[in-house]
Amino acid sequence: MKNFARITGTGSYLPPKIVTNFDLEKTLDTSDEWITARTGIKERRIVTSESTCDLALEASLNALSMAEKKPEDIDLIILSTTTPDKIFPATATMLQNRLGASCPAFDLQAVCAGFVFAMSNAQQYIENGSAKNILVVGSETMSKIVDWTDRSTAILFADGAGAVVLSADKNTGIKHSKLYSDGNYLSSLHVNNNRINELGTIEMEGNEVFKIAVNKLSEVAEETLTDCNMTSENIDWMVPHQANIRIINAIAKRIKLPLDKVILTLDKHGNTSAASIPLALDVGVRDGRIKKGDTLLFEGIGGGFSWGSILTEF
Ligand SMILES: CC(C)(COP(=O)(O)OP(=O)(O)OC[C@H]1O[C@@H](n2cnc3c(N)ncnc32)[C@H](O)[C@@H]1OP(=O)(O)O)[C@@H](O)C(=O)NCCC(=O)NCCS
Repeated sequence: MKNFARITGTGSYLPPKIVTNFDLEKTLDTSDEWITARTGIKERRIVTSESTCDLALEASLNALSMAEKKPEDIDLIILSTTTPDKIFPATATMLQNRLGASCPAFDLQAVCAGFVFAMSNAQQYIENGSAKNILVVGSETMSKIVDWTDRSTAILFADGAGAVVLSADKNTGIKHSKLYSDGNYLSSLHVNNNRINELGTIEMEGNEVFKIAVNKLSEVAEETLTDCNMTSENIDWMVPHQANIRIINAIAKRIKLPLDKVILTLDKHGNTSAASIPLALDVGVRDGRIKKGDTLLFEGIGGGFSWGSILTEF
């Protein structure tokens, strides 16, 4: 009998330092009014000395605790990040060591679609029987690759981590996943380093990214619903990548999903890239909105571009 990959625990962690739009007004030619109206973001968390692994560790411990699992119960760690602490070893390997786990661990890079890609990968290991419990983490210190003099990107990106434990379940769990990549879009959203040992900063054609995000994410949501023989009425909660409130509104409108069925954390978290979906999921689970048995739709798109969706019963 087939095993499903079911979420048994969620966790998140945000660094304590809050940077509000008013704080950004002091260093950039921008305003709280502009940022709020164009993006929906009011504040974001930014690391001071914390590493990507530090954030991942706290989120992972929270998820393991909810799942009532110990590090030794975990068969695999997949950590999605755009901002690893080192070129090598993988941040996942450092996390494995700090957790006291002994399983294989690897990083996965699909920028803001990273969590969806990591979940889909983890799903395959559980469904084919090669793992029973997998820790899937999205952790980012995007502030390290932001050009803090560029008002079109500095207002968007932020730091944080989210994690889930996926466990083998005979009855339900992930029902559908769909992934896409198209490197033709590299120049629309990329980091401008030329060599591997240069850090570089984010460069983005905002208008272009906006339109592509709405189109690709609406299409993948529609495709997911069709493949699952569902309509948006079957979705209890959409937990989208938190990039821009206007992108999320446009997608919800296109798939006819009321906004009160969307988990939104954008106002307080900003765009935390691979961390944004598991962060929003953890908020929705811990405040009691997301309940066992709910049908959830995750979807995300990231730089250059990769995108995809996961439909799961919680
Ligand atoms: C970046 C983004 C917020 C810009 O909003 P927009 O409505 O498209 O605004 P535009 O780029 O058309 O710029 C409009 C004006 O605001 C200005 N502007 C840009 N950033 C500004 C800021 N932070 N504060 C004030 N003005 C700003 C522009 O210079 C432009 O001025 P002009 O009309 O004098 O030329 C929006 O395009 C966006 O969110 N795109 C998607 C980005 C994204 O989600 N990336 C991550 C994907 S994972």
